[in-house]
Amino acid sequence: MEQHDRPKTTAPLNQTAQMLQTRRIPLMNPVLDQEMIEAALQALQNEKFVMGESVHKFEEEFARYCGTRYAISTGSGTAALQIALQSLGVAQGDSVLTTPFSFIATSNSIIHAGATPEFSDADPTDFNLSAHAAEMGMTERTKAIMPVHLYGRPCRMDEFQELAQRKGVRLIEDACQAHGAEYMGKRIGSFGDAACFSFYPSKNMTVGGDGGMITTNDEHVAEAARGLTDCGRDGKSKYEMSRIGYTSRLNSSNAAIGRIQLKRLDGWNLARRRIAALYRRELENVDKIELPVEDKPESRSVYHLFVIRTPIRDLIKSKLASSGIETGVHYPIPIHLQAPYRRIYGYSEGAFPTSELLAREVLSLPLHANMKEEEVKIVCERVREAVTN
Ligand SMILES: Cc1ncc(COP(=O)(O)O)c(C=O)c1O
Repeated sequence: MEQHDRPKTTAPLNQTAQMLQTRRIPLMNPVLDQEMIEAALQALQNEKFVMGESVHKFEEEFARYCGTRYAISTGSGTAALQIALQSLGVAQGDSVLTTPFSFIATSNSIIHAGATPEFSDADPTDFNLSAHAAEMGMTERTKAIMPVHLYGRPCRMDEFQELAQRKGVRLIEDACQAHGAEYMGKRIGSFGDAACFSFYPSKNMTVGGDGGMITTNDEHVAEAARGLTDCGRDGKSKYEMSRIGYTSRLNSSNAAIGRIQLKRLDGWNLARRRIAALYRRELENVDKIELPVEDKPESRSVYHLFVIRTPIRDLIKSKLASSGIETGVHYPIPIHLQAPYRRIYGYSEGAFPTSELLAREVLSLPLHANMKEEEVKIVCERVREAVTN
């Protein structure tokens, strides 16, 4: 399943047995249980549809979870990134430096904010942007740097903080894949001037639809972001606007689902880490398969995806598909080689060789919090067969 195919919500437990029998193993499997359905219904019946009580509570709880003073909900992760950039003062004429090895929304948000994306190549070890590479790619127009915690693996944020401070630029975390990840004992989302999360259904937590969140400790950024999400209002008057804003708010029923998902997030992330450990045990020393690098002591990944690297990616993918095992490629085309980026900015092959090589070799194996040990073992057995046959 690729990024924007729609993941279906979790199957009732008895379907897991059926899935094992028929060996259909999905790449991801978002949860929507009775408690969440009832909370959504409750919000629909008793609150304003948009920005009701559940939205305010969800924002408070999310900020507390990340260890930030503020959290502002938005209509999507892309909108969160765009609005956060604008709230940090990024505008036309500025550039923002990021990685080409991410989902395209990362850099689309920079263009939506009126600025120009600049790229530095991904690190071949952990596939993230390093502060060193970022520094090499900066220009005099760089106003902000945007590292992405790809696949739920934290970037080395102390190094980015040092770089941003030394260069006098803003730091914004694309944490759209990293809900609950930690670095040096602190939650991801609390390192940058702002950080952004997505609740798209494939993420480690969702709101039962699209949604996003901006976290920040900066009162001015929070105030600007709040206004931009809500048509430009500044909270004083319904029809007196202080900014050219957007309609990018969260629905109350989605926030009600998000509040329950947030309570479950740590348990789900623990389950993801256990599944990742099992994948490692089952696939270590398998020919032609490179496992994702282990966490350093200061990092705690939340395995939004478990991504192996292999020169026979397409062969393994199709063999697994024929056994009913769904895999993904995140991402088959690095951002700079997407058609609009070639057209607008003139990028071509060879500009960022590591990202281009990764795009040919990465393969995401099935991983979700309710995945059974037997399912992981079946996937690994099929991978081993595909490599040897
Ligand atoms: C790294 C990254 N950035 C940004 C986004 C955009 O989030 P959304 O789909 O909620 O707009 C996503 C997810 O889709 C993502 O994975």
